[in-house]
Amino acid sequence: RSMFLGLIAAILAPTLAIAACDPGEERIRFSHVTAAQGHPKGEAALLLEQRINRELNGRACMEVFARSTLFNDDDVLPAMLRGEVEMAAPSLSKFEAYTRKFRVFDLPFMFEDVFAVEEFQYSPEGEALKRSMEAQGLIGLEFWHNGMKQISATRPLISPTDAAGMKFRIQPSPVLNAQMEALGSAGVAMPFSAVYEALKNGEVQGQENTWSNIYTQSFHTVQDGVTETNHGIIDYLVVTSADWWNGLEPGLHADLAQILLEVTHERNRFAFEIGEMNRSRIMADGGVIRELTPEQRAEWVAAFAPVWDQFRGDIGDDLIAAAERAQG
Ligand code: LMR
Repeated sequence: RSMFLGLIAAILAPTLAIAACDPGEERIRFSHVTAAQGHPKGEAALLLEQRINRELNGRACMEVFARSTLFNDDDVLPAMLRGEVEMAAPSLSKFEAYTRKFRVFDLPFMFEDVFAVEEFQYSPEGEALKRSMEAQGLIGLEFWHNGMKQISATRPLISPTDAAGMKFRIQPSPVLNAQMEALGSAGVAMPFSAVYEALKNGEVQGQENTWSNIYTQSFHTVQDGVTETNHGIIDYLVVTSADWWNGLEPGLHADLAQILLEVTHERNRFAFEIGEMNRSRIMADGGVIRELTPEQRAEWVAAFAPVWDQFRGDIGDDLIAAAERAQG
C-alpha cells in the first residue's frame, strides 16, 4: 500500500507543482491546513494565489496547498526555515516555539470579537508582534482573521462544570492547556488534520474551534452539540522566512507585500460573515448549537479567570493592557 501511495505522490505532486510555475518565476509555496473554499483562510489564500499568478506572471507564481496536503501546522515553521515552503498562515496558537508574546491571543475572554482583535493588531504593540520572531528567522507579514471559538463535546455543556473529566483536543498552547485544566478536564494537543478522527474514535470527547473550522471539518457530526461560548479566538499570521523574504529582488518584494496587504484588507472584512454562514450551515445540517444566558456565560468567565494569572508574567502587563484598550 505504501508503495502505491508513493507512486501516486510521485505522479501527482510534481505535476501539480510544475503546472503553475514557469521557468524563471519565483516559486511561492503557501501551505495551510483548512478547507480551500468556504473558509476565511482558504478563501484568502486562493485570492492571493489568483492575484499573484495574474499580476506577477513571469516574475512569481504561487501554489496553495490546503488541508495539510503539504505540511501540518506542527511542521510547517521548521520546514519554512529549511526553505521547503515560502509562506503559511498558522493560527496564533502555533508559534509557541518562537515567542511567548502570542499567548496574549489565547487568554480566555480576552477579546470581545474579531473586530477587537483587529484593533489590537493595528496598535503599535500589535504591529510589533509581527517582527518579534525575526531573530529566529521568521517574519510576520499580515494578520488574517477566522473568528471566535466555541466548545463542542459528546455531552451538553451549559455550565463549565459539565466539562469535568473529559479530554479536549487543543492546539499546542500552554494557555489552552491551562484553560482545559481550569475546567477539571484535560487538553490533548494534536494537529488540526487529526481532530475529526480523534473525535470520531473517542480519543478525545470535545474540542474548541470556530464556526468555519467546525463546519468545514464536519466536527458537529461527531459531537453532541456546540456551545456558543465565544471564549477565545482563532486568528492567523501570514508568515515567511526572513532569509527568503529579505533576499527577494526589491521590486518583487514590494509588489508581493502590496498584493498581500490588499488581499488582507479585502478578505478580513468577510471573515465574520463567513463564520455566520458556517454557523447556519451547521444548523441546517442538523447540528445542535446551544446559546448561553448572560448568567451562564459569566460562569465560564469566572472558571477561566485563574488562567490569566498563570501567564501574565510571560506575556507582560504592557501587552495585556494594549489588548484590553482595544476592547473599545
Ligand atoms: C486548529 O488547529 O484548530 C486551527 O488552528 C486550524 C486553523 O488553521 O484554523
